[in-house]
Amino acid sequence: MTTALITGAAGAIGQAIAAALGAAGMRLALADTDEAALAAALSNGPATSAAALGNGPATSAAALGNGPAAPLNEGPTLHRLDVTDDSSCADVVAAVVAAHGELSLLVNAAGIMVRSTALETDTATFQRVLDVNLTGAYRMAKAAHAALAASGGSIVSISSTHAFLAAKASFAYGVSKAGVSHMTRLLALEWAADGIRVNAVAPTVVPSAMTAGVLADPAYVNRKMAAIPLGAPIAPEHVAAAVAYLASPAAASTTGQILVLDGGESLA
Ligand SMILES: NC(=O)c1ccc[n+]([C@@H]2O[C@H](COP(=O)([O-])OP(=O)(O)OC[C@H]3O[C@@H](n4cnc5c(N)ncnc54)[C@H](O)[C@@H]3O)[C@@H](O)[C@H]2O)c1
Repeated sequence: MTTALITGAAGAIGQAIAAALGAAGMRLALADTDEAALAAALSNGPATSAAALGNGPATSAAALGNGPAAPLNEGPTLHRLDVTDDSSCADVVAAVVAAHGELSLLVNAAGIMVRSTALETDTATFQRVLDVNLTGAYRMAKAAHAALAASGGSIVSISSTHAFLAAKASFAYGVSKAGVSHMTRLLALEWAADGIRVNAVAPTVVPSAMTAGVLADPAYVNRKMAAIPLGAPIAPEHVAAAVAYLASPAAASTTGQILVLDGGESLA
Protein backbone atom coordinates (compact mmCIF):
# COMPACT_ATOMS: atom_id res chain seq x y z
CA MET A 1 0.00 0.00 0.00
CA THR A 2 1.29 3.47 -0.87
CA THR A 3 2.02 5.87 1.98
CA ALA A 4 1.70 9.47 0.82
CA LEU A 5 3.17 12.46 2.64
CA ILE A 6 1.45 15.69 1.60
CA THR A 7 2.96 19.05 2.54
CA GLY A 8 0.66 22.09 2.64
CA ALA A 9 -2.08 19.59 3.48
CA ALA A 10 -4.19 22.20 5.33
CA GLY A 11 -4.63 24.22 2.13
CA ALA A 12 -7.43 23.83 -0.39
CA ILE A 13 -5.32 21.92 -2.89
CA GLY A 14 -3.61 19.83 -0.20
CA GLN A 15 -6.99 18.84 1.24
CA ALA A 16 -8.31 17.82 -2.18
CA ILE A 17 -5.16 15.79 -2.82
CA ALA A 18 -5.57 14.06 0.55
CA ALA A 19 -9.17 13.17 -0.27
CA ALA A 20 -8.23 11.79 -3.71
CA LEU A 21 -5.26 9.77 -2.49
CA GLY A 22 -7.28 8.47 0.47
CA ALA A 23 -10.05 7.41 -1.91
CA ALA A 24 -7.38 5.64 -3.98
CA GLY A 25 -6.58 3.56 -0.90
CA MET A 26 -3.31 5.23 0.11
CA ARG A 27 -2.19 5.69 3.71
CA LEU A 28 -1.88 9.42 4.43
CA ALA A 29 0.55 11.61 6.35
CA LEU A 30 -0.68 15.21 6.35
CA ALA A 31 1.84 17.95 7.09
CA ASP A 32 1.59 21.72 7.42
CA THR A 33 2.84 24.62 9.54
CA ASP A 34 -0.78 25.27 10.46
CA GLU A 35 -1.58 22.29 12.69
CA ALA A 36 -4.90 23.72 13.85
CA ALA A 37 -6.11 24.13 10.26
CA LEU A 38 -4.89 20.62 9.50
CA ALA A 39 -6.84 19.14 12.40
CA ALA A 40 -9.92 21.22 11.54
CA ALA A 41 -9.76 20.14 7.90
CA LEU A 42 -9.52 16.53 8.95
CA SER A 43 -12.49 16.66 11.30
CA ASN A 44 -14.75 19.22 9.60
CA GLY A 45 -13.99 19.51 5.91
CA PRO A 46 -16.25 17.57 3.59
CA ALA A 47 -13.32 16.90 1.23
CA THR A 48 -11.14 15.47 3.97
CA SER A 49 -13.51 13.76 6.34
CA ALA A 50 -11.98 10.87 8.20
CA ALA A 51 -14.14 8.55 6.09
CA ALA A 52 -12.77 9.97 2.86
CA LEU A 53 -9.24 9.93 4.13
CA GLY A 54 -8.68 6.40 5.13
CA ASN A 55 -9.19 3.51 7.37
CA GLY A 56 -8.52 4.49 10.92
CA PRO A 57 -8.58 7.33 13.43
CA ALA A 58 -6.28 10.27 12.82
CA THR A 59 -3.15 10.48 14.92
CA SER A 60 -2.01 13.96 15.94
CA ALA A 61 1.52 15.25 15.67
CA ALA A 62 1.68 15.43 19.47
CA ALA A 63 0.67 11.81 19.82
CA LEU A 64 3.31 10.78 17.30
CA GLY A 65 6.06 12.61 19.15
CA ASN A 66 9.67 11.56 18.86
CA GLY A 67 9.58 8.50 21.05
CA PRO A 68 9.92 4.84 20.15
CA ALA A 69 8.22 3.59 17.01
CA ALA A 70 4.47 3.19 17.44
CA PRO A 71 2.53 0.30 15.90
CA LEU A 72 1.97 0.79 12.18
CA ASN A 73 -0.78 3.30 11.53
CA GLU A 74 -3.42 2.75 8.84
CA GLY A 75 -5.29 6.01 9.53
CA PRO A 76 -4.05 9.47 8.52
CA THR A 77 -1.30 10.97 10.67
CA LEU A 78 -0.91 14.73 11.20
CA HIS A 79 2.51 16.35 11.32
CA ARG A 80 3.64 19.88 12.13
CA LEU A 81 6.07 20.77 9.34
CA ASP A 82 7.99 23.88 8.36
CA VAL A 83 9.54 23.26 4.95
CA THR A 84 11.99 26.13 5.54
CA ASP A 85 13.64 24.12 8.33
CA ASP A 86 15.99 21.19 7.44
CA SER A 87 15.41 19.45 10.79
CA SER A 88 11.64 19.75 10.56
CA CYS A 89 11.70 18.11 7.10
CA ALA A 90 13.94 15.26 8.29
CA ASP A 91 11.91 14.77 11.50
CA VAL A 92 8.60 14.53 9.65
CA VAL A 93 9.92 12.02 7.12
CA ALA A 94 11.28 9.91 10.00
CA ALA A 95 7.96 10.16 11.87
CA VAL A 96 6.03 9.08 8.77
CA VAL A 97 8.26 6.05 8.21
CA ALA A 98 7.96 5.16 11.92
CA ALA A 99 4.17 5.48 11.88
CA HIS A 100 3.41 3.84 8.54
CA GLY A 101 6.42 1.57 7.98
CA GLU A 102 7.45 3.24 4.72
CA LEU A 103 7.09 6.34 2.54
CA SER A 104 6.30 5.88 -1.13
CA LEU A 105 4.88 9.23 -2.30
CA LEU A 106 5.89 12.80 -1.50
CA VAL A 107 3.49 15.54 -2.64
CA ASN A 108 4.99 19.02 -2.36
CA ALA A 109 1.96 21.32 -2.02
CA ALA A 110 3.21 23.80 0.63
CA GLY A 111 3.47 27.26 -0.85
CA ILE A 112 3.08 30.99 -0.40
CA MET A 113 2.29 33.77 -2.88
CA VAL A 114 3.34 37.43 -2.69
CA ARG A 115 1.81 39.69 -5.31
CA SER A 116 4.42 42.30 -6.19
CA THR A 117 6.59 43.33 -9.14
CA ALA A 118 10.36 42.90 -9.23
CA LEU A 119 10.95 46.48 -8.09
CA GLU A 120 8.33 46.29 -5.34
CA THR A 121 9.76 43.02 -3.96
CA ASP A 122 12.45 43.43 -1.31
CA THR A 123 15.24 40.88 -1.12
CA ALA A 124 13.99 39.34 2.13
CA THR A 125 10.56 38.73 0.61
CA PHE A 126 12.10 37.26 -2.54
CA GLN A 127 14.23 34.93 -0.44
CA ARG A 128 11.26 33.94 1.75
CA VAL A 129 9.10 32.97 -1.24
CA LEU A 130 11.94 30.93 -2.76
CA ASP A 131 12.70 29.36 0.61
CA VAL A 132 9.15 28.01 1.03
CA ASN A 133 8.20 27.21 -2.57
CA LEU A 134 11.47 26.03 -4.12
CA THR A 135 14.02 25.27 -1.42
CA GLY A 136 11.24 23.78 0.72
CA ALA A 137 10.38 21.26 -2.01
CA TYR A 138 14.09 20.52 -2.45
CA ARG A 139 14.54 19.99 1.32
CA MET A 140 11.60 17.59 1.39
CA ALA A 141 12.78 15.69 -1.69
CA LYS A 142 16.25 15.23 -0.16
CA ALA A 143 14.84 14.23 3.22
CA ALA A 144 12.57 11.67 1.55
CA HIS A 145 15.13 10.31 -0.95
CA ALA A 146 16.27 7.26 1.01
CA ALA A 147 12.72 6.21 1.93
CA LEU A 148 11.49 6.72 -1.63
CA ALA A 149 14.43 4.76 -3.04
CA ALA A 150 13.66 1.92 -0.61
CA SER A 151 9.99 1.82 -1.66
CA GLY A 152 10.38 2.57 -5.39
CA GLY A 153 8.33 5.68 -4.76
CA SER A 154 7.69 8.97 -6.49
CA ILE A 155 7.40 12.73 -6.00
CA VAL A 156 4.71 15.03 -7.35
CA SER A 157 5.16 18.77 -6.79
CA ILE A 158 2.61 21.52 -7.37
CA SER A 159 4.21 23.98 -9.75
CA SER A 160 2.11 26.60 -11.57
CA THR A 161 1.46 28.20 -14.94
CA HIS A 162 3.51 31.06 -13.39
CA ALA A 163 6.52 28.81 -14.06
CA PHE A 164 6.30 29.45 -17.80
CA LEU A 165 3.84 32.35 -18.34
CA ALA A 166 5.24 35.75 -17.38
CA ALA A 167 2.53 37.30 -15.20
CA LYS A 168 2.87 40.81 -13.80
CA ALA A 169 3.09 41.39 -10.04
CA SER A 170 3.96 37.90 -8.89
CA PHE A 171 7.70 38.11 -9.51
CA ALA A 172 9.15 35.99 -6.70
CA TYR A 173 6.36 33.41 -7.03
CA GLY A 174 6.95 33.00 -10.77
CA VAL A 175 10.69 32.58 -10.27
CA SER A 176 10.09 30.03 -7.51
CA LYS A 177 7.69 27.96 -9.61
CA ALA A 178 10.01 28.02 -12.64
CA GLY A 179 12.56 26.56 -10.23
CA VAL A 180 10.11 23.88 -9.06
CA SER A 181 9.43 22.82 -12.66
CA HIS A 182 13.09 22.61 -13.62
CA MET A 183 14.03 20.93 -10.35
CA THR A 184 11.43 18.30 -11.26
CA ARG A 185 13.30 17.53 -14.50
CA LEU A 186 16.71 17.52 -12.82
CA LEU A 187 15.63 15.25 -9.96
CA ALA A 188 13.86 12.93 -12.43
CA LEU A 189 17.11 12.54 -14.33
CA GLU A 190 19.31 12.14 -11.27
CA TRP A 191 17.01 9.79 -9.34
CA ALA A 192 15.73 7.53 -12.14
CA ALA A 193 18.57 5.15 -11.32
CA ASP A 194 17.25 4.99 -7.75
CA GLY A 195 13.82 3.97 -9.07
CA ILE A 196 12.21 7.29 -8.06
CA ARG A 197 9.90 9.08 -10.51
CA VAL A 198 9.58 12.86 -10.16
CA ASN A 199 6.76 14.84 -11.78
CA ALA A 200 4.79 18.04 -11.26
CA VAL A 201 1.38 19.54 -11.91
CA ALA A 202 1.09 23.15 -13.13
CA PRO A 203 -2.39 24.64 -12.63
CA THR A 204 -3.58 28.12 -13.48
CA VAL A 205 -5.76 29.82 -10.89
CA VAL A 206 -7.42 27.50 -8.35
CA PRO A 207 -9.88 28.79 -5.71
CA SER A 208 -8.08 28.72 -2.33
CA ALA A 209 -6.93 31.03 0.46
CA MET A 210 -4.03 31.97 -1.81
CA THR A 211 -6.34 33.30 -4.52
CA ALA A 212 -9.38 34.44 -2.48
CA GLY A 213 -8.34 38.10 -2.85
CA VAL A 214 -7.97 38.14 -6.64
CA LEU A 215 -11.00 35.92 -7.21
CA ALA A 216 -13.08 38.48 -5.27
CA ASP A 217 -12.01 41.17 -7.76
CA PRO A 218 -14.42 41.22 -10.73
CA ALA A 219 -11.84 42.93 -12.98
CA TYR A 220 -9.31 40.16 -12.30
CA VAL A 221 -11.91 37.43 -12.81
CA ASN A 222 -13.09 38.93 -16.14
CA ARG A 223 -9.53 39.31 -17.39
CA LYS A 224 -8.45 35.86 -16.24
CA MET A 225 -11.49 34.00 -17.53
CA ALA A 226 -11.11 35.74 -20.91
CA ALA A 227 -7.55 34.37 -21.03
CA ILE A 228 -8.65 30.80 -20.26
CA PRO A 229 -10.36 29.28 -23.35
CA LEU A 230 -12.34 26.82 -21.20
CA GLY A 231 -13.45 29.86 -19.17
CA ALA A 232 -13.21 28.52 -15.63
CA PRO A 233 -10.74 28.29 -12.74
CA ILE A 234 -9.20 24.90 -12.05
CA ALA A 235 -11.02 22.88 -9.38
CA PRO A 236 -8.81 21.62 -6.54
CA GLU A 237 -10.26 18.17 -7.30
CA HIS A 238 -8.82 18.34 -10.83
CA VAL A 239 -5.37 19.12 -9.44
CA ALA A 240 -5.82 16.19 -7.06
CA ALA A 241 -6.84 13.84 -9.88
CA ALA A 242 -3.71 14.79 -11.83
CA VAL A 243 -1.55 14.12 -8.77
CA ALA A 244 -3.26 10.76 -8.23
CA TYR A 245 -2.61 9.80 -11.85
CA LEU A 246 1.08 10.79 -11.78
CA ALA A 247 1.52 8.86 -8.52
CA SER A 248 -0.23 5.75 -9.84
CA PRO A 249 1.22 2.67 -11.56
CA ALA A 250 -0.54 3.90 -14.75
CA ALA A 251 2.16 6.60 -14.93
CA ALA A 252 5.04 4.18 -14.37
CA SER A 253 6.74 5.33 -17.61
CA THR A 254 6.36 9.03 -16.83
CA THR A 255 9.08 11.03 -15.12
CA GLY A 256 10.36 14.59 -15.36
CA GLN A 257 7.02 15.81 -16.75
CA ILE A 258 4.94 18.85 -15.89
CA LEU A 259 1.21 18.21 -16.37
CA VAL A 260 -0.36 21.57 -17.21
CA LEU A 261 -3.94 22.23 -16.03
CA ASP A 262 -4.75 25.62 -17.51
CA GLY A 263 -8.01 25.32 -19.44
CA GLY A 264 -6.00 26.13 -22.57
CA GLU A 265 -4.55 29.42 -21.19
CA SER A 266 -1.10 28.72 -22.60
CA LEU A 267 -2.34 27.91 -26.13
CA ALA A 268 -2.74 31.47 -27.38
N1 LIG B 1 -4.36 28.42 -5.75
C1 LIG B 1 -3.81 28.54 -6.96
O1 LIG B 1 -4.31 29.27 -7.83
C2 LIG B 1 -2.58 27.75 -7.30
C3 LIG B 1 -2.23 27.64 -8.65
C4 LIG B 1 -1.07 26.94 -8.99
C5 LIG B 1 -0.31 26.37 -8.00
N2 LIG B 1 -0.66 26.51 -6.69
C6 LIG B 1 0.19 25.89 -5.67
O2 LIG B 1 -0.54 24.88 -5.02
C7 LIG B 1 0.00 24.70 -3.70
C8 LIG B 1 -1.16 24.75 -2.69
O3 LIG B 1 -1.71 26.06 -2.71
P1 LIG B 1 -3.23 26.41 -2.26
O4 LIG B 1 -3.85 27.12 -3.37
O5 LIG B 1 -3.88 25.21 -1.68
O6 LIG B 1 -2.92 27.50 -1.15
P2 LIG B 1 -3.25 27.51 0.41
O7 LIG B 1 -2.76 28.82 0.89
O8 LIG B 1 -4.69 27.15 0.61
O9 LIG B 1 -2.34 26.31 0.98
C9 LIG B 1 -0.96 26.42 1.14
C10 LIG B 1 -0.59 25.67 2.41
O10 LIG B 1 0.84 25.68 2.54
C11 LIG B 1 1.12 25.80 3.94
N3 LIG B 1 2.46 26.33 4.15
C12 LIG B 1 2.89 27.60 3.91
N4 LIG B 1 4.18 27.72 4.31
C13 LIG B 1 4.57 26.51 4.77
C14 LIG B 1 5.78 26.02 5.32
N5 LIG B 1 6.86 26.82 5.50
N6 LIG B 1 5.85 24.71 5.68
C15 LIG B 1 4.75 23.91 5.54
N7 LIG B 1 3.57 24.33 5.06
C16 LIG B 1 3.48 25.63 4.68
C17 LIG B 1 0.04 26.77 4.45
O11 LIG B 1 -0.13 26.70 5.87
C18 LIG B 1 -1.18 26.31 3.67
O12 LIG B 1 -1.93 25.36 4.41
C19 LIG B 1 1.03 25.81 -3.51
O13 LIG B 1 2.32 25.30 -3.81
C20 LIG B 1 0.64 26.82 -4.57
O14 LIG B 1 1.73 27.62 -4.97
C21 LIG B 1 -1.79 27.18 -6.31
